[in-house]
Amino acid sequence: MLTGLSKGLTSYGDAEFSLFLRKAFIKAMGYTDDALTRPIIAITNTASDYNPCHGNVPDLIEAAKRGVMLAGGLPMVFPTLSIHESFAFPTSMYLRNLMAMETEEMLRAQPMDAVVLIAGCDKTIPAQMMAAASVDLPAIVVPTGPMNVGHHRGEMLGACTDCRRFWAAQRAGTLAAGEIDDVNERLAPSIGTCMVMGTASTMACMVEALGLALPGAASATATSADRKRIAEASGARAVAMAKAGGPKVSALLSDTSLHNALVVLQAIGGSTNGVIHLTAMAGRAGVKLDLAHLDQLGREVPVLLNLKPSGAFYMEHFHHAGGLPRLMRELADKLHLDCQNVAGTTLGEVISRAEDVPGQSVIFARDKPLKSAGALAVLHGNLAPRGAVIKQSAASKELMSYTGRAVVFDSVEDMAARIDDPALDVMAGDILVLRHAGPKGAPGMPEAGYLPIPLKLARAGVKDMVRISDARMSGTAFGTIVLHITPEAAEGGPLALVESGDVIRLDVTGRRLDVLIDENEMARRLAVWKKTPPHRPLPPRGYARLFARHITQADEGCDFDFLMHKD
Ligand code: FES
Repeated sequence: MLTGLSKGLTSYGDAEFSLFLRKAFIKAMGYTDDALTRPIIAITNTASDYNPCHGNVPDLIEAAKRGVMLAGGLPMVFPTLSIHESFAFPTSMYLRNLMAMETEEMLRAQPMDAVVLIAGCDKTIPAQMMAAASVDLPAIVVPTGPMNVGHHRGEMLGACTDCRRFWAAQRAGTLAAGEIDDVNERLAPSIGTCMVMGTASTMACMVEALGLALPGAASATATSADRKRIAEASGARAVAMAKAGGPKVSALLSDTSLHNALVVLQAIGGSTNGVIHLTAMAGRAGVKLDLAHLDQLGREVPVLLNLKPSGAFYMEHFHHAGGLPRLMRELADKLHLDCQNVAGTTLGEVISRAEDVPGQSVIFARDKPLKSAGALAVLHGNLAPRGAVIKQSAASKELMSYTGRAVVFDSVEDMAARIDDPALDVMAGDILVLRHAGPKGAPGMPEAGYLPIPLKLARAGVKDMVRISDARMSGTAFGTIVLHITPEAAEGGPLALVESGDVIRLDVTGRRLDVLIDENEMARRLAVWKKTPPHRPLPPRGYARLFARHITQADEGCDFDFLMHKD
């Protein structure tokens, strides 16, 4: 089997010449022949001035390189795309598959025996794992890690659950003059990823639960010495994996490890986005995420982690309470403990070494959970034939079974234009509906599912309303919000047929989402919809056209159809 520099030679029709030429060029960097015969450990560089969530990537690269060299390997750092949530137009999800494609092709194109994947902001770990699963090489993830906690007037706060809370208070007119500017400086007090259980923290926990990152890798803060030690240890482990030829991603990302990840997703109060990303990542390895299984786990596995937005604390508190190994010990009877990991051990060994921290109040005991049910529930009904998701752990109890009048917004732009209009026909008991905000319709399925409470209702003290859409929502958000309605409106899903004034019924216990109109009326509206020009015409060129033609629905992970695993 070819290894090191001999892998993936550039085509000149003469393999020996290709290797000769490759060595000649790389020696321009001052490498010796000794260095060039070592196992090559590639390290992704996702640092970017546009990405503060990756602000520690240069330090982590240095630490990973140190680990590689201490273990006798040759580190090779290469750049890839970097995506930050707030610096991605029209939305980061639109770019996730581009990053996955680019990373995959560079993993294929460049010689390497293993790869250390350093990333953190929401879409970046999923993109890298989609790539690594498709290439199927030994890979180890180093999350950049969560930010430090912020402080404001005696309370802890952080990105971005508290961003939304304070912005809602500002809209409702309940903040002191100038307070919103103080808060703006304190929400993200350091580099690193959002420190609540948003999508970044969720995906870091998912890769650790899957065995694709070292124990503790999900929770150590971005600025901590622990984080650098994890990077160094990951570099060293990558060398061992390169020498052994594995485990490759396919050996770790399996039906059983995915089950473990879903158990954890329910217990940590994980982001709804985690469902889409896990579907895409596992899908690349030929493993299917079954929404019915996820929902069943939501009935069996309670939320144990006291982190915002479902609870009170932040990721650094989780780390100091024992992190994911300690939490997983509470769930041992639900987990496949024989699953292997990149540390070269089993999950059973990891949780047997978990630290017990006396007096901690972040990880709840299984028999005294934070919430009796899991974080997520999957809904079906005549509005969501292929499913929809609600984060029940962050929803209002009194709205979980609810019937109300629909107020429909036809697009994100329509919602932005009308939501605060004093003349908008909306009352506190209504259900807000947003459509054409799905994978194809927006495009890119923006995190617009957290529709703001209309200004006149916010000022009247309304804090939550049932909101439904084919969009996504930030994992940091809270509210009674139904997301990922599939098929989306742009694909002719029933959501496209709802009219303002229709009555919608949400029944989370019964796992139903229905519009209360009869089938004949639905059929009449569908016939009209079919004759209506598309909400958004096919883009004329480039990535936008590729995206519109090949993006799949939420239940397929929003991957491109031509990148999904084929048997
Ligand atoms: Fe990067 Fe929240 S914006 S993790």
